[in-house]
Amino acid sequence: MTSSAPDPVEVNGDRLWQSLMGLAEIGAYDDERTGLRGVDRLALTDADAAGRRQVIAWMEDAGLAVRIDRMGNIYGRREGTDPTAAPVLTGSHIDSVATAGAFDGCLGVLGGIEVVRTLNERGIRTRRPIEVGIFAEEEGVRFGTDMLGSAVAAGRLPLDYAHALTDRKGLTLGGELTRTGFDGPTDVRLDPPHAYVECHIEQGPVLAESDVPVGVVTGVQGISWQEITIHGRAAHAGTTPTHLRADAGLAAAQIIVHLRELVDSGEYGDLRATVGHLIVYPDLTNIVPARAELTVDLRNPDDAQMTRAEEALAAFLRDLENSRPGLTLTTRRMAKTPYVPFDEGVQKTIAQAADDHGLEHISLLSGAGHDAQEIAALCPTAMIFVRGEYDGISHNPREYSTPEACARGVSVLATTLLRLADQ
Ligand code: GLV
Ligand code: MN
Ligand code: MN
Ligand code: MN
Repeated sequence: MTSSAPDPVEVNGDRLWQSLMGLAEIGAYDDERTGLRGVDRLALTDADAAGRRQVIAWMEDAGLAVRIDRMGNIYGRREGTDPTAAPVLTGSHIDSVATAGAFDGCLGVLGGIEVVRTLNERGIRTRRPIEVGIFAEEEGVRFGTDMLGSAVAAGRLPLDYAHALTDRKGLTLGGELTRTGFDGPTDVRLDPPHAYVECHIEQGPVLAESDVPVGVVTGVQGISWQEITIHGRAAHAGTTPTHLRADAGLAAAQIIVHLRELVDSGEYGDLRATVGHLIVYPDLTNIVPARAELTVDLRNPDDAQMTRAEEALAAFLRDLENSRPGLTLTTRRMAKTPYVPFDEGVQKTIAQAADDHGLEHISLLSGAGHDAQEIAALCPTAMIFVRGEYDGISHNPREYSTPEACARGVSVLATTLLRLADQ
């Protein structure tokens, strides 16, 4: 143990930026809508596998000993001076949504590697080991459950459940792990960490609106994902009288509008509701839709209000089904996570590090889901948010943080990890 906190450490912002831009080339595509270059690295696709191989190479270059668990989570370890001490963990994910930018998740992983490079270059040893984790299928958009790799690592979801999940083509996650070569040995597990700190872009407008570079994250709001399938009856668009239709597409539209009404009513706290996936079958101009599938994403910082909103939606679905003969509705739970508060001690360490770097900071709740909310079940955890540009837009190729903003956030990460690793 040292008697005073280690000095703040500045990382190499240019090197960090090169890594971010280099990884963004893997899975890059030209986005027709925005004219921008985006990233499409859905979990366990060839692009994600190529990204993983690149990041593993960077980990090994930085001297990290890499191991992979049966969920395809990757852990890189830098030994400390005390071989018996629990490691301090950092990291995030490198899988992306299909229309991503360069930063979501990648900043946390590449930031962790940049911290290790900086410590190596300065010959700084820590008492505890430092580990950098890459968690599989954080986005949840390929296999339908978000924060999947970290949820399995933390023991909340069983490995078998995760392996059996399928994508829209019917491919299993377990099969895709094997195909891409990321189904690790059975004896590899996440070492119970002393603490976990994840650096991430904010993905929202709060830091930019407050004109502050760094956020100390107090917790993550609750997330509820479900899929609704509406079965109606295919019929001729020209000949079928309105009263004889069981129109699955119309029912889908009614659900979308009802969700907005729940939000606008103000009766469910700070509720957000999104239907991001909607498809009708047979998907043809002159046929009343026989079937519709949609997903509902609800967010709420208050678990009781979340439950009330879910109940209100369920009641609406029952009424909808009863209102039109021939229409049946089924729902499938995809994922649900409660509000997760972060550890106050780790938040204080982050805030102190930001102060010592001369950076203004505010505390804020995360609107997005993160691996940190799962790892929080294992050890004291908190997150550092980095300010984004363009209202903090994310899950969009316009997502952008400046090189300076990224370097500041990762320098705060470095100082925070160093201090936690000395405890
Ligand atoms: C993950 O990015 C989420 O918050 O949906
Ligand atoms: Mn993310
Ligand atoms: Mn994301
Ligand atoms: Mn996310």
